[in-house]
Amino acid sequence: MGMSGEGSQKTPEFKTIIMQREPPIGWIILNRPERLNAINLEMVQEIDKALDLYEDDKDIRVVVFKGAGDRAFSAGADVTAFRFQPPAFNTAVFTFKMHRLTQKIEWYPKIVIAAINGYALGGGLELAMACDLRIASDKSQLGQPEVNLGIIPGWGGTQRLSRIVGPAKAKELCLLGERIPAEEAYKLGLVNKVVPAEKFDEEVRNFAMRIAEGAPLAQRAIKYAVNFGWQAPITTGLMLEAMGLALAANTKDAIEGVTAFLQKRKPKFKGE
Ligand code: COA
Repeated sequence: MGMSGEGSQKTPEFKTIIMQREPPIGWIILNRPERLNAINLEMVQEIDKALDLYEDDKDIRVVVFKGAGDRAFSAGADVTAFRFQPPAFNTAVFTFKMHRLTQKIEWYPKIVIAAINGYALGGGLELAMACDLRIASDKSQLGQPEVNLGIIPGWGGTQRLSRIVGPAKAKELCLLGERIPAEEAYKLGLVNKVVPAEKFDEEVRNFAMRIAEGAPLAQRAIKYAVNFGWQAPITTGLMLEAMGLALAANTKDAIEGVTAFLQKRKPKFKGE
């Protein structure tokens, strides 16, 4: 298994994240374990940079976010910034930067997975909800606890959560501010898969590898049709789907997929 900086590609050193390059998987590890990987402005900027680097990296097929240590994916926005009341305008600017980052993930041409082991709260859950897929260990707890601090989710919590689990459950989670265990999150469709904590790394890797072996351009067309179709009337969504199919059907990977099927072998997709 490769280490960070494998081959000719060097990954830069960051302060708040670790970019661990293990083709075809590009890990982004939120690395402030002493603060339960709370997200500050510097982390947002570093994640943004890491995403750009993996985007241009042909050998990276899937990006996986996880938290350093085994206590948290992320306990949310770094609340130490709220101890004094910041000028409202600064709060809004940080919020907009996080909106840019979460939307970047939704537009990102590769599949992005959030691997949750421990707490995914507030901004941590909001980051995870912008990802395409979420896998969680059975000891994880998820929630939007902002209301307990007298504030509200600001990085898409009220919006993406209601689109994923429906408005009634989203309101319950945001209004009560309670944490729910991974199993319950699974039942709500908030996480795609729950795995035993002891096997977390192995299961996450297997899950990511299944994505990495898929046809990248078809995956991208699916991601965009879902992400941009669900905000639109169904006729527009169906048209997005039809265009995505037309694009995917014109790729070398589509020829490879059909040929491999007829030859009863596993396809080798190249993203071409
Ligand atoms: N921002 C900044 N620091 C945070 C943090 C956050 N969102 N969440 C946790 N931390 C810090 C704690 O202050 C603590 O620091 P300390 O060791 O200097 O005291 C450290 O991380 C460990 O957390 P602690 O609270 O001691 O762990 P716990 O096991 O008792 O509780 C949580 C874990 C997640 C339940 C609790 O930390 C918590 O409720 N965090 C805030 C979650 C939240 O409200 N997020 C939304 C923010 S808008």
